Amino acid sequence: AAASHDPQALLDWYDRHRRRLPWRAEPGQTADPYHVFLSEIMLQQTTVVTVAPYYADFLARWPDVAALARARLEEVLSRWAGLGYYARARNLHACARAVVERHDGRFPAEEAALRALPGIGPYTAAAIASIAFDRRAAPVDGNWERVVARLFAVEEALPKARAKLRALALTLLPDARFGDFAQAMMDLGATLCTPRKPACALCPWRESCAARADGAPERYPVKTAK
Ligand code: ADE
Repeated sequence: AAASHDPQALLDWYDRHRRRLPWRAEPGQTADPYHVFLSEIMLQQTTVVTVAPYYADFLARWPDVAALARARLEEVLSRWAGLGYYARARNLHACARAVVERHDGRFPAEEAALRALPGIGPYTAAAIASIAFDRRAAPVDGNWERVVARLFAVEEALPKARAKLRALALTLLPDARFGDFAQAMMDLGATLCTPRKPACALCPWRESCAARADGAPERYPVKTAK
């Protein structure tokens, strides 16, 4: 198999097959950082289908970060009911206040500055930097890890392989369109490079995928036996 996984092939695939999700901007536009922030916090440990109505409700009630910062915590928690992991709702509110107090109500674009905000870890910082500001950043989630483990047929098992998968992920990044690339990786993992029965025939990287060449894409990512 070819050694290189052309980022442009994935971006072309994304232009044709991108999922239309409520928090996504129109093609060619960067998303509002508040929209990315809200959706990414909600999507941690929660599916797209479950999140969608909550996302719409929050955005209608608190249309921007300043409005959320002014909200009562009790109302944020009550509107969060059903999403679970309530620490996320508390952090959401604390983060909105910090953006207003420290950054004059505008999300910073730098990953490091984003990570300094309450409730924003490496994943969320990279998601906002790339998707809202088109900065070179890799929000490596489970979808990314599965795609990368397969492309390179990584034999090391999760969770130990995490650092290696991240390093390999960084080698895939294009020279531009970092936000589209990040979401393309999520879509590829969610729709084609799925945990079971991946649709390799439709994959833009099928010719260079090491796991497919081995005939056993489902074997990756390798996980430590429980
Ligand atoms: N899961 C987490 N973040 C996502 C995003 N931006 N688009 C689709 N699925 C996601």
